[in-house]
Amino acid sequence: MSVKEWWDNCHKTNNEKYLTGTNLESYKIHYQLSNEDIDNADVFLEVGIGLGTAIRDLHIKSKTVYAVDISEEALAKVGDVAITYNINDIAELPTNTIDIAFCHLVFQHTDKKNIEVIIENVLKSLSMDGKFCIQFADAPGRNEESDLCKEKGGMLYSRDEILEIVYRCNGKILWEPAIQKFDFTQAWWHKIVLRKV
Ligand SMILES: C[S@@+](CC[C@H](N)C(=O)[O-])C[C@H]1O[C@@H](n2cnc3c(N)ncnc32)[C@H](O)[C@@H]1O
Repeated sequence: MSVKEWWDNCHKTNNEKYLTGTNLESYKIHYQLSNEDIDNADVFLEVGIGLGTAIRDLHIKSKTVYAVDISEEALAKVGDVAITYNINDIAELPTNTIDIAFCHLVFQHTDKKNIEVIIENVLKSLSMDGKFCIQFADAPGRNEESDLCKEKGGMLYSRDEILEIVYRCNGKILWEPAIQKFDFTQAWWHKIVLRKV
């Protein structure tokens, strides 16, 4: 089964464990965004939409929302409230347009080449004051044989690895919320908010 088929299947069966369903209020907390940040922004983008919860929250606020996902099954479910693009067409997003973009709980399922494609094209799509909010996972002291990588099939990246891509794509860190640590897993969540240079 390909990665795309695996995600299609999650979306067909509404697999909440893997699709999560992070809402806009949680994004505000994760990325230290204020009500004003949200109210002043008109155009939003989410790459990797899960159950589409944040997309619908933004739609209720009458915002223009772009949705990008690997799965057409996912995109079909938000077609009534968002402008949708398959990840293969991410380069076709309008340039200089998006005020706030999110990519949350996606890099831990994505290889490095695709991460670069996402960062490069989302940065291009940002307005001059636009912000790109990204989460990625790492684990302290991990190595190639790490149990986390092997058991869960997760992709872990160091901050340096992600920042190397960000700088190559002409991105700049605006701010970096504190690393989030959990009791139930060794994995850490890094979160960064980027702008284009
Ligand atoms: C764990 S869910 C996260 C959903 C949402 N961002 C949240 O936090 O609730 C991962 C989502 O990313 C999508 N996805 C996985 N790999 C992707 C890729 N390479 N490009 C775009 N979307 C991808 C999946 O179909 C799924 O909708």
